[in-house]
Amino acid sequence: MRLQDKVAVVTGAASGIGMAVAKKLATEGAKIVIGDRNAAGVEAVADGIGAAATAMALDVADEGSARAIIDRTVALHGGLDILCNIAGVLDFGRFEDIDRRRWDRVISVNLTGVYHMCHAAMPHLIERRGAIVNMASAAGLVGVPYNSAYSASKHGVVGLTRALALEFSKEGVRINAVCPGGVKTPMVQQAPPENIDWQMVMRSASWLDSGEMAEPEDIADTVAFLASSDARRITGAAFPVDGGQTAG
Ligand SMILES: NC(=O)c1ccc[n+]([C@@H]2O[C@H](COP(=O)([O-])OP(=O)(O)OC[C@H]3O[C@@H](n4cnc5c(N)ncnc54)[C@H](O)[C@@H]3O)[C@@H](O)[C@H]2O)c1
Repeated sequence: MRLQDKVAVVTGAASGIGMAVAKKLATEGAKIVIGDRNAAGVEAVADGIGAAATAMALDVADEGSARAIIDRTVALHGGLDILCNIAGVLDFGRFEDIDRRRWDRVISVNLTGVYHMCHAAMPHLIERRGAIVNMASAAGLVGVPYNSAYSASKHGVVGLTRALALEFSKEGVRINAVCPGGVKTPMVQQAPPENIDWQMVMRSASWLDSGEMAEPEDIADTVAFLASSDARRITGAAFPVDGGQTAG
């Protein structure tokens, strides 16, 4: 129960890693407010968790929506200790096919969405000397072919994490990023487009050598650790949880 009486917001909690993070934080004793664009899905997750969880419809790409979930959390629980930015979208495609609409969608959710949430939450996190955990990706540490917008957005999340960690170190707010390799979630079950060199994508993902992708719970364990006081000396880290994919 490392997070007893802590108050946490988790985005992207209707599915995959976000859902696993919500369950893990609640198990560790936190009161959580969970948001997702899939309002019915996040409601069902909150129902499954029980009294510790409150669900809210959320579009992280919308500044007002991001501010609303933070304001509601503070109104409900009197403050905020932990922000977990997990919501994200993947868009596989040849660079020639990534038009401005597709580029903007990925950047606005994966990168601007993290900015919106951090910006709204920061004054409250300063009050409680809290922590942020951002979901980046192995694609935020190395390039992944046919993932131009996604890789750019996740490199951006790593850069934002490092800059904020330095800027808010005096206020005692810790900001870290987690960089998973492949994780078994609906995101990676989308069929890739046919006009890409899939073998090239495979070669860039060493989890395939072991034949194994991570479970969402593997990533949630790292998020909970970074959010807890066990990680009190860790800030500005981009933490790979990738089975060695980015090791060399
Ligand atoms: N699955 C992987 O292999 C993998 C690897 C590295 C990083 N990640 C990252 O982990 C995070 C979670 O991904 P996942 O694999 O669980 O995917 P997922 O598709 O299962 O879950 C993503 C969730 O984010 C929500 N979402 C999307 N856009 C949103 C928005 N604008 N506002 C609020 N919610 C929104 C979706 O509704 C969904 O519930 C993402 O940031 C993803 O980039 C995933």
